[in-house]
Formats: sequence, C-alpha cells, structure tokens
Amino acid sequence: MKESYKEMIRLWKRLYVDAFERTTNVLPKVRGVLLAYNTNIDAIKYLDKEDLEKRVEEVGRENVFEFIEKPSEKVSSLEELFAGILRSIKYGKAMEWFVENNEVRAYLKEWGWDELRIGGQAGIMANLLGGVYNIPTIVHVPQNSEIQAKLFVDGPIYVPVFENGELKLFHPKEAIEREEDLIHYIYEFPRGFKVFDIEAPRENRFIANADDYNARVYMRQEFREHFKRIAERVDLAVISGLQVLKEYYPDGTTYKDVLSRVESQLNILNRLGVKSHFEFAYTANEVVREDLISMLTKFTSVGLNEVELASLMQIIGDDTLAQEVLHADVFAVIDAMHLLMDETGIERIHFHTYGYYMALTQYSGDEVRDALLFAALAAAGKAMYGNLEKMIQIRDALSVSTNERAFPLIEALEKEFGMEDGVIDMTDRQLAFVPTKIVASPKSTVGIGDTISSSAFVGEFALMG
Ligand code: AMP
Ligand code: GLC
Repeated sequence: MKESYKEMIRLWKRLYVDAFERTTNVLPKVRGVLLAYNTNIDAIKYLDKEDLEKRVEEVGRENVFEFIEKPSEKVSSLEELFAGILRSIKYGKAMEWFVENNEVRAYLKEWGWDELRIGGQAGIMANLLGGVYNIPTIVHVPQNSEIQAKLFVDGPIYVPVFENGELKLFHPKEAIEREEDLIHYIYEFPRGFKVFDIEAPRENRFIANADDYNARVYMRQEFREHFKRIAERVDLAVISGLQVLKEYYPDGTTYKDVLSRVESQLNILNRLGVKSHFEFAYTANEVVREDLISMLTKFTSVGLNEVELASLMQIIGDDTLAQEVLHADVFAVIDAMHLLMDETGIERIHFHTYGYYMALTQYSGDEVRDALLFAALAAAGKAMYGNLEKMIQIRDALSVSTNERAFPLIEALEKEFGMEDGVIDMTDRQLAFVPTKIVASPKSTVGIGDTISSSAFVGEFALMG
C-alpha cells in the first residue's frame, strides 16, 4: 500500500473518533425536531430463492418474465408484482411500486414477513433521533394504528394531540386510534442472490406499497390546523414523502394542492427561524420534480443520492452532466451541487453515495465534515445491525475500515482544490468530503439514506451550537 494511503487511514481514523465524541456530546442540546410527513409500517421479507421461484412458477414464469423488461411501475396483478421483484433483483435497483389491487394486497399479507419495522422517512428518522439520539421528536403519522404505534421505540417521540384547544404531546403508543395499517411490503435481497438465471449485482430491495394515505401525502388535521403551535416546539424540521406525488388525481385535485399546503408550513417554519431539511427521494413525475426544485428555495438544506441529483440535472443541467452524476463522478457531482445551489439559493446540499459523502454549504466550519463522519458511522451501524437501537452500535462502526477506494478521490481533490482534512474553502462556499465506512454484508438496506441525512443535518446543527 502507498505510504500516503497509510497516512490517510491514520488521519481518517482520528477524525472519525473525534467526530463521534464531539457529536454525541452535543446532541442533547437540540431542543426538538419535527418530522413530516410519511410514516408507515415496513413489513420486511428477506427473499428466499426456492419460495420465490415456486411462487413465480405458480403465476406463470413466462408471463412474469415478459413484464421484467416492460416495467409497469405499479402493481395491479401478481405478474406485475413478481416482475417488479425480479427486475429489482436483476438490476440491483431499489424500486417502489404502488399496489392498486385488493387481491394482490391480500396475497401480500398472506405471503407474510420476517420483521415489522417503522417505515417512511419520517417514521425511520423518529426512531433514530428520538429513540437513539434521545432528542425530543415530533412525528407526523397519517394513521396511528396499534401495530404501527408499537413499532415506535421508547424515548421522547411524540405525536401532537389537541385537547380542548390545548396542544399535548404523547408517545404514539399513548395516542392509538382505530385507524388503518399502512403497510409497505419490502423484499430485500443480498448481493449475488440468484433466482432462475437472474443474479443480483448488489444488495437492494423492492417495495410493494399498499398504502393509500402516504401516496397522497395525507396530512392529519392537527398539522393542517395547528402547524404553528407544533413548529414552535422545535429547532429543526425534516420534510419528506413528497416523492409520491402525481400530477393529477381522479378526484380533480392535483399535486399543487399538496405543495401549496407544504409551502405555507415552510413559511411558518421560516418565520419561526426553524431550519428545515428536505429529504429528496426519487420523484418519478417530472412536472412534480420541477416544482420541488422551485420549492427548495424555502428550505435550509437538502439531502440526496446520485440517482436523485442526476434526476435534477436532467432538469436544470444537461443529460451529459446527469449521466456523470449518476456514476458518482466526483467532479461532476461538485459541479451539479454548485448548479443546484445557484439555482435555488439553498444554504446546504448534502450528497451521499456508496463510498463517500459531500456537503456544499454557504457557511464554513469543520463541524460540517464532522457531522458527515458521524452520519457515516450511523449508516455503517445501521447496515450492520439492520435496526439501530443504541448509541453503542454506532460506536461499534468505528471498527469498520474506512473506504480506501475514496482515497484517490481525496488526492484528486487535494490537488485540484487544495482540500485539507476533507474541507475545501471556496471563498463564499465550503465543500466537505468524507470517505465512508462500507459494511461488507449489510443486514438490510432500507432506511440507510434516511439515517445518513438526518444524522448529518441534526449533528451539524448541534455541533455549530
Ligand atoms: P439511499 O440511496 O438514499 O437509499 O441511501 C443509500 C446509502 O446508504 C448509500 O448512498 C450509501 O452511502 C449507504 N450504504 C449503502 N450500503 C451500505 C453499506 N453496506 N455500508 C455502509 N453504507 C451503505
Ligand atoms: C420509502 C418507503 C418506505 C421506506 C422508506 C425508507 O418512504 O415507502 O417504506 O421505509 O422509503 O427510506
């Protein structure tokens, strides 16, 4: 190994340890975080080759295979369901399709699951921020069924309830309603998973979404009517779940009806000085995606991966840049982040991909880098354990080695921009770069992105003091 790489290993080991200590010390300073809008039940099944092959044969292998290359992007039959699963395996791609048909929903329920977990970006972040970081967290739950409520861990996690006009905060378990179970069936597979002649190039998951509420970004009455009083309780807000919006709905409403409500809530957050982060998930509809870009001007921060940033470059950049970003070409990603910041004026952009993260900010400080390092530990902990329950699991991730494949990128950035210890001063902007820790055989993949973005956003705020 090159001498300079050995030095880098030592340097990043030290930076990781320091960042962990520093961040965990200051997390208790955060007064409160608001998480909205999508919470659901994730019913996770780790796919089994024989079981899956048997089920595909039952439905008709030929019919299913025919649909693999003609993705319907939704599930209205068992053929489409299995074609979706097989397509996700074939390309190692995360996919999520809405289940329209009640018979298929019944089949999914019958097929069962290995594990139930809280799902949706808001739900996942609540269990992490409230349950592990012990930060008071108010979470939006479109429905608060018993099954879902019990998936929230103990800790300062709250749903707002108004009693005689007074705002009260209860743990979801103390505010259960006879409401619907919003179930997302998640089929996880490891790298190299083989079914028929298909082999997964990487681990990932297919999600069959049987949830009519989050699909419309349903907002509870408490949030529609009393948002200001809820927002007054927090320092930070993380918004997610808008990726599912469609241009038009059969009842004549459009995505604009939802976005205008979200915008008025953002105005309230801004008036109150609450910093807001938008967790950008892949938004299939281009018209909606374009409007989401316009809405970024109202946010403090945005988090995205290579697929999501590329999808924005198709709109505000060009196809060549989008392609380069998709392959996580580091210089292209930096150009794209600058372009997005120019276009929206947003103060912070956090990019994450397999192997490294970057944050472009309109302010400077090593805290930005340290928060990314803390987030990388949380991500590795999540990959190792599937579910994070205790801070010690995040500390355990310190033992995972730093991704050496990112070292040539570090050298290139040092040469090109004079980067020092992962930080580049760009006069009016700062870029922070960190090599991450990659867990060789992750237990599960769902929710790692949410873990990264929320840990970095909240960690940075705490560190900045
Ligand atoms: P997303 O693409 O938003 O779902 O987030 C997935 C992110 O999780 C990737 O960008 C990686 O940074 C991270 N990740 C995925 N697999 C692993 C792993 N095995 N170990 C550590 N981090 C991972
Ligand atoms: C999407 C899925 C949800 C999952 C989450 C993880 O919101 O609908 O089931 O928990 O992504 O990021």
